[in-house]
Amino acid sequence: MGDIKDLKFDDKNFNMHSEFGMSQLERSLRNFGAGRSILVDKDNRIIAGNGIAEAAGQIGIQKTRVVETTGDELVVVKRVDVELDSKEGREMALADNATSAADLKWDEDLLKSEADKWGIDASSWGVEFEKPKTYEDGALGRDFIIVPSSVLDATKPAWVARKKVWKSIVQSEKGRKENLMGYSKTIGESGGTSIFDPVLCEMVYRWFGIPGGSIFDPFCGGSVRGIVAGAMGNRYYGNDLRQEQIDENEAQYEVAKELLEIKKPVWSVGDSADMDKVMSNYDEKEFDLIFSCPPYADLEVYSDDPADISNMDYEEFLEVYRKIIAESVAHLKPNRFAVWVVGEIRKKDGGYQHFVEDSIKAFEDAGMVYYNHAILVSGAGGAGLRVRRLMRNRKLVHSHQDILVFKNGDVPDGLEPMDREAILAQVDEERRLLDNYENVLVFTNAENIKDLQASFPKIGE
Ligand SMILES: C[S@@+](CC[C@H](N)C(=O)[O-])C[C@H]1O[C@@H](n2cnc3c(N)ncnc32)[C@H](O)[C@@H]1O
Repeated sequence: MGDIKDLKFDDKNFNMHSEFGMSQLERSLRNFGAGRSILVDKDNRIIAGNGIAEAAGQIGIQKTRVVETTGDELVVVKRVDVELDSKEGREMALADNATSAADLKWDEDLLKSEADKWGIDASSWGVEFEKPKTYEDGALGRDFIIVPSSVLDATKPAWVARKKVWKSIVQSEKGRKENLMGYSKTIGESGGTSIFDPVLCEMVYRWFGIPGGSIFDPFCGGSVRGIVAGAMGNRYYGNDLRQEQIDENEAQYEVAKELLEIKKPVWSVGDSADMDKVMSNYDEKEFDLIFSCPPYADLEVYSDDPADISNMDYEEFLEVYRKIIAESVAHLKPNRFAVWVVGEIRKKDGGYQHFVEDSIKAFEDAGMVYYNHAILVSGAGGAGLRVRRLMRNRKLVHSHQDILVFKNGDVPDGLEPMDREAILAQVDEERRLLDNYENVLVFTNAENIKDLQASFPKIGE
């Protein structure tokens, strides 16, 4: 018997491992126990299996069994407790392949230099380094995660991949209860299993928050906005009417904090219309950012509590909603942003309620400037049947939400200043990324613009 501590990690591992891949390795080890062997050299330095050895160490597998060989026999690991044709056997086979795929992230520079040094042809092993193809793969992705455009497409590969990592943290199976489905339903995305988009949270905090600043969320619902805020080192204060939701959030935090360093979010229970009472729970009363996703009127009714604005008729809803917005804004520091995620809803006659416009008006009436509007594209949306049902009445499937951004003064300079060289290098890199970039140069020999206007027909009028 040996000890895992006797193994030495490869200090030049070509595989940098992905966060998601490592979490999947741990998950696989936890669920199925150890499977295939790892490979070490004569000095116990790991040639293959650095990731699995690390994951094993993480979850407390100490013992090793070392089989010495010179490569002329196949070392067979026989799991006497497993049968291939069973759920466990088949899932283990899936996990074995899936974890390898998920955990592979080449350290391109290292691999190139070692391949050069030893005369190894990496391409003969099928390893080709592709040039980055999207803006998100380049400097814009590094600085902004997703390009800050007015169409935020959550179906982009970079977004989907990042969301997966967050989900493994926020929706970790560890300590998760069956009632999670109930929890998920309460956080506003149809389908039951989805959570508020953690990547959107990251971007909002990075784009409109102050690094290490405070955030107030008057309709906090689920745990995601708080956990992502805390993981980014922000101080998050979220209030919701429902005790059971906050209990669930606290449980979620307990799980997530095992996986990530998170500044503990402060969640309070109460009616956000009674703002003084809400604030009495907090040690800070002025915040650097307002970020929330309110009830979309009665689209989803959260409880029968008379203070729950989701069970009010629209007129009463709007009155309380506007009051909560105005009172939240009163607790925003000057020169800051409020980011509000909403979606349009329909009235009983099928026409639009103008809820998005009413939300904009509420912030404007509270003294803020309507500053950005982005569409969050959340997928094709809707199974065939739903699409057909809606189209019978010529209604389009709603597959977007509206991100409204308001400011209450000058725009704070949240991003690190960049020097001219860095900006030029970045522009250069972005230019290379553009697949269809071409220069079209137009020259004229006219002396002045009036001569040109006289000689050409008018267009566009
Ligand atoms: C749309 S949900 C927010 C959830 C959000 N979609 C998310 O992803 O987490 C709105 C939340 O507002 C809460 N709510 C309704 N009326 C409230 C009030 N008067 N004060 C505080 N929270 C309230 C509901 O309990 C619900 O959790």
